[in-house]
Amino acid sequence: DLPRFVNIVEVGPRDGLQNEKSTVPTSVKIELIHKLVASGLSVVEATSFVSPKWVPQLADAKDVLEGIRHVPDVRFPVLTPNLRGFEAAVAAGAKEVAVFASASESFSKSNINCTIKESLARYRDVITSAKKHGIRIRGYVSCVVGCPVEGAIHPSKVAYVAKELYDMGCSEISLGDTIGVGTPGIDFVALCFQHVISWYQYLSLPFKTNFEASDDVSLFLRALQSQSINMLAHCMCEKGKHLLIADHIICSFNCWIFFFNATVLATYVIGTFTLLAILFVSGKVLAMLEAVLSFVPVDKLAVHFHDTYGQALANILVSLQMGINIVDSSVSGLGGCPYAKGATGNVATEDVVYMLHGLGIETNVDLNKLMDVGDYISNRLGRPSGSKTTTALHKL
Ligand code: HMG
Ligand code: MG
Repeated sequence: DLPRFVNIVEVGPRDGLQNEKSTVPTSVKIELIHKLVASGLSVVEATSFVSPKWVPQLADAKDVLEGIRHVPDVRFPVLTPNLRGFEAAVAAGAKEVAVFASASESFSKSNINCTIKESLARYRDVITSAKKHGIRIRGYVSCVVGCPVEGAIHPSKVAYVAKELYDMGCSEISLGDTIGVGTPGIDFVALCFQHVISWYQYLSLPFKTNFEASDDVSLFLRALQSQSINMLAHCMCEKGKHLLIADHIICSFNCWIFFFNATVLATYVIGTFTLLAILFVSGKVLAMLEAVLSFVPVDKLAVHFHDTYGQALANILVSLQMGINIVDSSVSGLGGCPYAKGATGNVATEDVVYMLHGLGIETNVDLNKLMDVGDYISNRLGRPSGSKTTTALHKL
C-alpha cells in the first residue's frame, strides 16, 4: 500500500546551494526559503553550520537563520558536523539540527575528515546536548548504496550506521544515495512466492482441491523473510560471516517443522537462496531498505536520492511501496555534494510532487507556486530548471 500523505523535506537551500561556485547572496537564500514555505512546504533544510573552509557557500548560516526566524509552524533543520556547529546553530536560533554520518569509510574521511566510528562519537555528544536543549535531531546516512571511491556498499553497513544514529536519539533517519547510483531492485522473494503459489494451484487442480491458502503462505514466508534479514544483518554487523552461515542453518532447521508439504519446502529453499542473492547484490535500494527496516521503524525513515543516473523517482516509488512517507528533494533539482565526485543534484521537488499527486498522494504543496520558486532560483543562478515537470509544463 502506498502512503496517503508524504512529507517532503526540501533541501534546496542547503544541499542545493552548498556546491554553488559563485556566492549566492544571503538575501536570495532568505527569499528562496520564504517562497518555498509559501508553496506549502513545511520542512525546509535551511543551511549548515559547518566549517566555512570546507563549504564557503554556507558561511552566512547565522544570517540566513536570522532572516527566517519569524516564520511560524515550519521546521528548519540545519546541518551540524560537531559540537561547535551545534552550539553556533542553537545560538542562531535553530530548533532542529541534522547530523550526517556515512556508510562508507572513504566518504566519511573526505566529507567530515574522520572515520565512521569517530563521527558517531562526535554525534553522540551533539545528540546528548540537543536532547538537553529539547532540540529535534535528524540523522543522515550517506552513500547508502554506493560510494564514489569504494563502489557498492553492503546493506549491513547502512543498517549499522542507521541503527547507531537511531539508538542515540535521532527522531528521523534520512538514507542518502549521495551519488545517485542506486537502482530500485526487485523483490525476488515475492516474485518467487508468486511463481510457487501459481505452481501449487496448478498442481492441485487435478485433485479439485480448493487451494485458498496462498495468502497465509505468503504472509508466513514474508515474516520468515524479514526475520532472516534481521538475523543476517545482525550476523554481518556483530558476529562475522562464519556465524552468519551457522545461524542461518539453525534457523532453517527451526523452520522445517512447519514444512510438512514438499512443495512448500521447495518454496523455502528457493526463497532462501533468492534472499541471500538480494542481500549480496549491493547497489539495490530495496535490499538496503529491507536491512535498515530491521532496526529502524518505517515511520522514522526518510529517503534522500540524488538523481545523477535518473533513478531517483523509481527509487522513491519503491521506498513508498515499502511504507516510507518522508522524501527529501531539492527545488529545481539543485545541488551536489562538494566531497562526492560526480554527484549531481537531488531529485527535483517539482518532479516528486508531480509524481505523488499523480499517485493520489497528498503533499500540501502547490505545484504551480513551487514551479515559480524553481524559476526564481534558476534565474538567479543563471541556468535552466533541472525539473522535467517544469520544462514540460513551460513548453505547453
Ligand atoms: P577538520 O578540518 O577536520 O576539523 O574539519 P578542524 O577541527 O581542524 O577544523 C578546521 C577549521 O574549521 C578550524 O578553523 C575550525 O575552527 C573550523 P581554523 O582554526 O583552521 O581557522 N571549524 C568550524 N567552523 C565553523 N563551524 C564548525 C566548525 N568546526 C570546525 N562547525 C569538519 C572537520 C567536520 C568541521 C569539516 O570537515 C566540515 O565542516 N565538513 C562539512 C562538509 C559538508 O558540509 N559536506 C556537505 C554536507 S554532507 C552531504 O551533502 C550529504 C547529505 O546531503 C546526504 C547525502 O546526499 O548522502 C547530507
Ligand atoms: Mg545530499
